[in-house]
Amino acid sequence: MKVVVTGAAGQLGAATVAAWTAAGHSVTGLTRSELDLTVPAAVRRVIGAIAPDTIINCAADNRVDAAQTAPMQPLAANAWAVGTLARLAADLGATLVHYSTDFVFDGETSRPYTEDDPPNPRSVYGMTKLLGEMLATDASRHYVLRVESLFGGPQRRSSLDRLWALMAAGQPAMAFSDRVVSPSFVPDVVRATRTLVEDHAPAGLYHCVNTGHATWLTVADELRRLGGFPDHCLRAGRAADTDFAAPRPLFAALSNATLLRAGIAMPTWQDAVARYVVGLKRAPGRSDAPGDTH
Ligand SMILES: NC(=O)c1ccc[n+]([C@@H]2O[C@H](COP(=O)([O-])OP(=O)(O)OC[C@H]3O[C@@H](n4cnc5c(N)ncnc54)[C@H](OP(=O)(O)O)[C@@H]3O)[C@@H](O)[C@H]2O)c1
Repeated sequence: MKVVVTGAAGQLGAATVAAWTAAGHSVTGLTRSELDLTVPAAVRRVIGAIAPDTIINCAADNRVDAAQTAPMQPLAANAWAVGTLARLAADLGATLVHYSTDFVFDGETSRPYTEDDPPNPRSVYGMTKLLGEMLATDASRHYVLRVESLFGGPQRRSSLDRLWALMAAGQPAMAFSDRVVSPSFVPDVVRATRTLVEDHAPAGLYHCVNTGHATWLTVADELRRLGGFPDHCLRAGRAADTDFAAPRPLFAALSNATLLRAGIAMPTWQDAVARYVVGLKRAPGRSDAPGDTH
């Protein structure tokens, strides 16, 4: 397949370029400096010239808190740019893969969200991502994959990377005891995406997260245990008591049952964290996390 990957310098983008290339596809990865997706004429010129049969959009403006007071750039990157890509995909007869987020939900539930649950974003970021989901459907064939709390990308800049770096440095790490998530391990998301596209699974909306859910504190404690760090390295905090500019959904577990019905079984989050730790121990390095917003 001839594949274009946008956001190629990001966590998911870099892993996507590597995995699809290793699988034998002809891949062009485009970073923001190579193509600013908010410039429609440039998008049409650059991607039109490549004429891919699959466009995988890993680009996003993920500055959740900044979006509350400066919404125009996130709106352009997370919504209008997706519309541009979708219309171009329709013109080229290409499949569009686009990623969204648990932040499209309000978090006021007690069971994992399914794709049929109505979104109700509480933040500007969540609204821009919901708009992007809607605009992606302008592509005649599209996959919109909601991921959450991504970790395990090559740049090591996720919340789990930051927690690991702190604990490894003997500094106290804090994780929320009141925010429930279904984390998404980047290699598992990339594999699921490739299977959907290569196997021509039904197009549409999928929750693409690891199986199960837990509070951030439970996930962080599993990380601590597997890392062999002492108990006192980790303390509990509360998202509800934290002064974020953008509200976070507190119960943000997603059900991946639709993906399972499409033949893709996502490993449990515990299994994913264990594989992630094996990778960290094999190649220890410093996190370059600037402060993940998820
Ligand atoms: N990270 C999470 O925990 C999380 C959670 C839920 C959903 N998601 C979604 O998952 C997808 C992948 O996220 P990620 O964590 O891999 O993101 P990431 O690491 O922040 O990468 C996003 C990339 O998009 C690029 N970008 C931003 N604006 C652009 C523009 N106007 N034109 C071209 N490129 C642009 C960024 O470039 P620069 O590096 O130059 O800024 C960055 O390299 C996104 O759709 C995101 O919303 C992520």
